[in-house]
Amino acid sequence: MCGIVGYVGEREALQIILNSLQRIEYRGYDSCGVLVQDSNEMEIHAHKSMKSIAQLKKNLSKSKYSGTVGIGHTRWATHGVPSRRNAHPHFDSDGEIAVVHNGIIENFQELKEGPLCNCIFKSDTDTEVIPHLIHQTLKKSLIKNATLKDAVRECLPHLKGSYALIVAAKGFDGLVVARKDSPLIIGVGDRENFIASDVPAVLDQTNRVIYLEEGDIAVVKKDSIYIENDAAEVKREEILIPWTIEDAEKGGYEHFMLKEIHEEPKAIIDTLRGYLSEDGLNLGLELEVSSILMVACGTSYYSALCGKYIIEHLAKVPVQVELASEFNYSDFVLNNMMVMAITQSGETADTLMALKKAKRFGCKTVAITNVVGSSATRIADDTIYVRAGPEIGVAATKSFIVQLITSYLLGLSLANMPGRELEERIADLKRMPQLAQLVIDGEDANIQKQARYLSEYDNVFFVGRGVNLPIALEGALKLKEISYIHAEGYAAGELKHGPFALLTKDTPVIAILTRDNIYEKTLVNVKEIKARGAPVIAIAETGDDEVEKYVDRVIRVPRTSAIFSPIPNTVALHLLAYWTAKARGCEIDKPRNLAKSVTVE
Ligand code: AGP
Repeated sequence: MCGIVGYVGEREALQIILNSLQRIEYRGYDSCGVLVQDSNEMEIHAHKSMKSIAQLKKNLSKSKYSGTVGIGHTRWATHGVPSRRNAHPHFDSDGEIAVVHNGIIENFQELKEGPLCNCIFKSDTDTEVIPHLIHQTLKKSLIKNATLKDAVRECLPHLKGSYALIVAAKGFDGLVVARKDSPLIIGVGDRENFIASDVPAVLDQTNRVIYLEEGDIAVVKKDSIYIENDAAEVKREEILIPWTIEDAEKGGYEHFMLKEIHEEPKAIIDTLRGYLSEDGLNLGLELEVSSILMVACGTSYYSALCGKYIIEHLAKVPVQVELASEFNYSDFVLNNMMVMAITQSGETADTLMALKKAKRFGCKTVAITNVVGSSATRIADDTIYVRAGPEIGVAATKSFIVQLITSYLLGLSLANMPGRELEERIADLKRMPQLAQLVIDGEDANIQKQARYLSEYDNVFFVGRGVNLPIALEGALKLKEISYIHAEGYAAGELKHGPFALLTKDTPVIAILTRDNIYEKTLVNVKEIKARGAPVIAIAETGDDEVEKYVDRVIRVPRTSAIFSPIPNTVALHLLAYWTAKARGCEIDKPRNLAKSVTVE
C-alpha cells in the first residue's frame, strides 16, 4: 500500500521525512517522493525516485533542500504504471499546491473530463486531480479569504473513493490533512508534529499519537493541531503507544518475520493478560449470541475457519465463515447474527466493507484486530484487541496465533460449561505460550533441516483434518507467499477426490498428524499418499513413535488436547515456511507483489 508522511516543526524536514518513509517501507512500494518547503523563502523543493528510500537518501545527501515543513510518499501503484512522473507528490498547474495520497479516487476520470477539463495533467494517476481541484476551489471560492483548509473541505465531497491526504502549499506554515477509508495518524511532538499512514513511521520521534477518524480534516502546524469533522471542530484523544521503536525494529533478527514468530509466545501471554484475571475471563463486551458470522481475508480468514471449529467445540454456538471479498457481493442471509471481522491491520478494504454491510443489515459487529484505533475499530460496535504488538513482516505470524487465542477466549466465554471444566480449559490456554516456546526452542534445528529438504521442491501439499484443516491451509499460504513454492492446503480426506493425480515423488506432502478423534483416518490418508510415491513430512506429537513407520520425516510438537493442537502446529509450520524461504534465498519480509495491508478492494 502507499505510505504518506509529513513533518511540521523547527528542524530540517528532509531527513525526518526520509527516515519516516524508511520505517514504513514494509507497506510495499514501487516509487517514492519527498517535498520540503521553506515558508520564509516561499520555495518548494520536490524530488521523486524509482529507487529505494535508501537510494533517495543518498541522492539527496548533498541537496540544498532546506525547509521545516515536508511531506513524503511511498507509492504502491494502483492507477498509472510505476514511474517518476507518477510518483507523488503531485501539484496543481501553478506548482504551488502539493499533495501526497494513499487510497483510490474512483471518479478521477470524470473530474478530468468535467470541472478539470482545462487542466494540464503531468501524470496518469488518480491522485493528481486533487491539487488541481484544490487550486480551482481556492480560485473560485466564495469564502472571503478562504484558507487552504476551507478549500480542502470544499473539495472532498467531490472525491469518490478512499484517501488519506497531506496537502502542502507554498508559503503556508503548516499541512492540511484529511482521511476517508485510509488510515492516518498525527504524531504529537514538542513544537513539532508528525503525520503518517502508520505508527512505526513516527515512533522514533514520539509515542504520542492521535488517530484521525473518518471524515476528519486537520490543520497541523508546529505548535497547533486543529481537527474538524463535518465543518465543526472536534477533539480527538491522544493515545500513548506502548510500542518502543525497538519493538518495531528487528531486534537483532535477520528478518522481522523470524522475530515475530519468536514473539508468538509473548503475544499469547499479552493477549491472555488482557482478558484473563483473578476474576476470571472477561472479553469486555456483551456476548448474547445465537449464531456468529466471521468475515476476513487471507491468513485472518484461516484463523476464522479455525475459530469455527474452536467455538463450536467449546460453546456449541454455530459459526459461519465467509471470505469478506465474497460476502460483500453475495446474497448471504444475515438473520440475527453477530458479525465478527478478523483483521490484523484493521484496514483491509474488503473486510471493512463487510463490516459496513453487516451494519447496514442491523447486525451487531465486532472487530478483532491488532491495531489500536484502526478503521475497523471505528466501524464496528465493539472491538476485541489481540495484543501481538507491531507485525512488520508482510506474512502474518504472531497476529494469526493470537487470533486463534481470541477464538478460544470467545468459545470459553460463550460456553456454559461447569466451573471445574472451565478452569481446566483456561489452564490449558495458559499453557499455550509454553508449548509454543517448546517448538521454538526444541524443534527449530530439525525444522531447519526439513526446510532445506523442502526448499528443493516446487510443488507441496499440506493436509489436515478438523481443527487442523485451517492450519494446513495457513501452512500452505505461509509457504507460498514467502518462498514462492506452489503450495496447496487440503482436507486430508479430500486429496483422493482429484489431487491424487498430482502426487509424485516430486510433490512432498506435509501432514498434520497430531492425535485427535480422527487420527486413525488421517493415518489412512497418509498411507494412501505414500502409496502414490509422494514423500510425507508429518507434524506429530513428541512420543508418538507409531507415526514414523508410515512417513519419511517428522517434525515434533508437544502433546496437548486436540482442540489446542493448532497452537504448537502453527508455530512449527510458520518456522518451516520461514526456513524454507531462507534456504531459497527469498526476500521474506517483503515478498514480491504483496503488501502488509491491502487497503484497496
Ligand atoms: C497473510 O500472511 C497475508 N499477508 C494476507 O493474507 C493477510 O492475512 C490478509 O491480507 C488480511 O490482512 P488483515 O488481517 O490485516 O485484514
